[in-house]
Amino acid sequence: MTEKPWRILVTRRLAPPVLERLAQRCEAIVHEGPGPMPRDRLLRELEGKAGVVTVMTERVDEEFLGAAGYGLVVVANFGVGYDNIDVPACSSRGVLVTNTPDVLTEATADIAWVLMMAAARRVGEGERFLRSRSEWVWEPDFMLGQDVYGKVLGIIGFGRIGRAVAKRGRCFGMRLLYYSSTRVPPEVEAELGAEYRELDDLLAEADFVTLHTPLTPKTRHLIDADRLAKMKRTAVLVNASRGPVVDEAALVEALRAGRIFAAGLDVFEREPEVYPGLLELANVVIIPHLGSATVETRTAMGLLAAENLIAALEGRRPPNLVNPEAWGMKRPSS
Ligand code: DGY
Repeated sequence: MTEKPWRILVTRRLAPPVLERLAQRCEAIVHEGPGPMPRDRLLRELEGKAGVVTVMTERVDEEFLGAAGYGLVVVANFGVGYDNIDVPACSSRGVLVTNTPDVLTEATADIAWVLMMAAARRVGEGERFLRSRSEWVWEPDFMLGQDVYGKVLGIIGFGRIGRAVAKRGRCFGMRLLYYSSTRVPPEVEAELGAEYRELDDLLAEADFVTLHTPLTPKTRHLIDADRLAKMKRTAVLVNASRGPVVDEAALVEALRAGRIFAAGLDVFEREPEVYPGLLELANVVIIPHLGSATVETRTAMGLLAAENLIAALEGRRPPNLVNPEAWGMKRPSS
């Protein structure tokens, strides 16, 4: 029988191939759910674990690290975003942090596109209308939306997902603008046909504004009342990044007052809570954080998290190391 030298905790039920892969190398405790592990149980289960597979709803902070103790080698996050993790706290203990980029790029770009189309063409509203069994007959001015084809697409955050959204925009004959904290090399701009704009200029010019930036102190409420006021009245805002990038109260006000045409949201400021004002508005499409939610993508994310975790435990540099400063660090023992 293969030796299983490491005890690990997997905080959510993951796809069978992922659990099988982990079980080849580790003795795993898996939280079957449904829902997250209650915090007090999580803290108890962490004791003595060499690795943990976390998801975005688990806070990895001093309390978490303290409960795990100095034997913890790696926190392998199942997700590309890792704003749930206090990375400096992990680094100071020599705990490696990994994430799962690339494998969810296309699925997440697709969901941004779903939201853009659905919000522009009033798909959610139309669905709800028919399901309410309302009387209707085709009319020339019934439920009119906004064209998508040939419009101006403004992409905020121009990493992997932002660029994948740009590629789709080209197929829709769109003019592509982007804003990012660092401008991409000219050859990337040329290849994608995307023009850089300062944020406020992008907001004023774009018909569609889509957010693909990580959540950091700088991007929290990046889209607030002032920025919403800079957008066109016919514009559509899409958020498939992190909820707090948008000031939801300001967004509700803008949608209610018709200061922008519509919004499509996959993420929420106080997830899983949805701001009550949003639920009352017809011109917003809301879905429950489905960006990477396909069978193929979630399996690929799990397998990548497993590979990251196993590499770290075997003493190899994990392919998706978030905190290189912790690599090779002499780990404190108490
Ligand atoms: C991520 O990977 O950060 C996503 O938001 C989870 O799908």
